[in-house]
Amino acid sequence: MNISLTNKQAIICGASQGIGRATAIQFANLGASTLLLARNEEKLQEIIRDLPQKDAQQHHYLVVDLSQPQQTLECVNKFLKDKPIHILVNNCGGPKPGSLIDAHLDDFDNAFTPHLKASHLLVQSLHKRMAAENYGRVINIISTSVKQPIRGLGVSNTTRGAMASWAKTLAAELGPLNITVNNVLPGYTATERLQSIIANKATKNNSSTDEVTATMKKQVPLGRFATATEVANAIAFLASPAASYINGISLAVDGGRTESL
Ligand SMILES: NC(=O)c1ccc[n+]([C@@H]2O[C@H](COP(=O)([O-])OP(=O)(O)OC[C@H]3O[C@@H](n4cnc5c(N)ncnc54)[C@H](OP(=O)(O)O)[C@@H]3O)[C@@H](O)[C@H]2O)c1
Repeated sequence: MNISLTNKQAIICGASQGIGRATAIQFANLGASTLLLARNEEKLQEIIRDLPQKDAQQHHYLVVDLSQPQQTLECVNKFLKDKPIHILVNNCGGPKPGSLIDAHLDDFDNAFTPHLKASHLLVQSLHKRMAAENYGRVINIISTSVKQPIRGLGVSNTTRGAMASWAKTLAAELGPLNITVNNVLPGYTATERLQSIIANKATKNNSSTDEVTATMKKQVPLGRFATATEVANAIAFLASPAASYINGISLAVDGGRTESL
C-alpha cells in the first residue's frame, strides 16, 4: 500500500495549531513539501522549524486571513508562481457557538466566508495545477454535524452542511480530472479549540472542567478524546496514492460517538 507523499506539494489551511498542525507534521513525515497558511506567524515559524526534510522537501508558510478569501488567493498564487500543487486541506477555526434561532446574519457571513468561500476560491484556482499533475486531493476538515447536527452549534451545523454539499458536488465535477474531494469529520479532538469549548461549558454549567471532560468522554464508545495526530492520520491517508478510488465521502474520526450512520 503506497501512502508515500514524496514529491507531493501540499497546502494546509489553519496549520498553526491543532488538527492543521498535526496534518502538516504527518504530511512532512510521509515526504510531502508543505505550504502552511494561518494568521499567527510566530506559531507558523515554530512549526516550520521542526518539520522533517529528509526527502529534500521544502516547507513554507504564508500569513493569511481566510476571512479575506480574495487576498488569501492572491497571496497563495503570488507565492506559487508556476509551482505544482497536489493536495489542498481546507481547514479553519470553528464558527461561533450558539442556538440557530438567535444567530445574526453577520454570524453566517463570518462563518461562510473563511470556510466555504475561501475553500471555494482556493479549489477554483488550484484544481488546474492538480489536473496538470494528474493528481489531486482536496480534503475538507468539517464536523460530524454533517451526519447529526450538534446542539448549540447552529451556525456551525449550517455551514458544515453547506460545505459537505459543496464537496460532494465538486467530487463529481473534478473526478474526471483525477482529483478526489473528501471530508474528514473530527470527533472530540484534544486541541486548543476543545480546551476552550470545555472551559466555556464548565463556566456555563457552573461545574469543573474535569466534570465536563468526564461527561464528554462518556459519550465516546472508545472512552477518550482523539489526539490531533489520529485525525491527521486519516487526512494523510486520504491525501495518499493509496486512497485513489475514495471520492466524495465524509469520514468520521470520532471514536464511534456519532450515532447515525
Ligand atoms: N477539536 C475538535 O474537537 C473538533 C471537533 C469537530 C470539528 N472540529 C473542527 O475541525 C477544525 C480544526 O479544529 P482544531 O481543533 O484543530 O481547531 P483550532 O485548534 O481552533 O485551530 C484552528 C486553526 O485555524 C486557523 N484559523 C482560524 N481562523 C483563521 C482565519 N480567519 N484565517 C486563517 N487561519 C485561521 C488557526 O490559526 P490562526 O489563529 O493562527 O489563524 C488554527 O491554526 C475546526 O473547523 C473545528 O471546528 C474540531
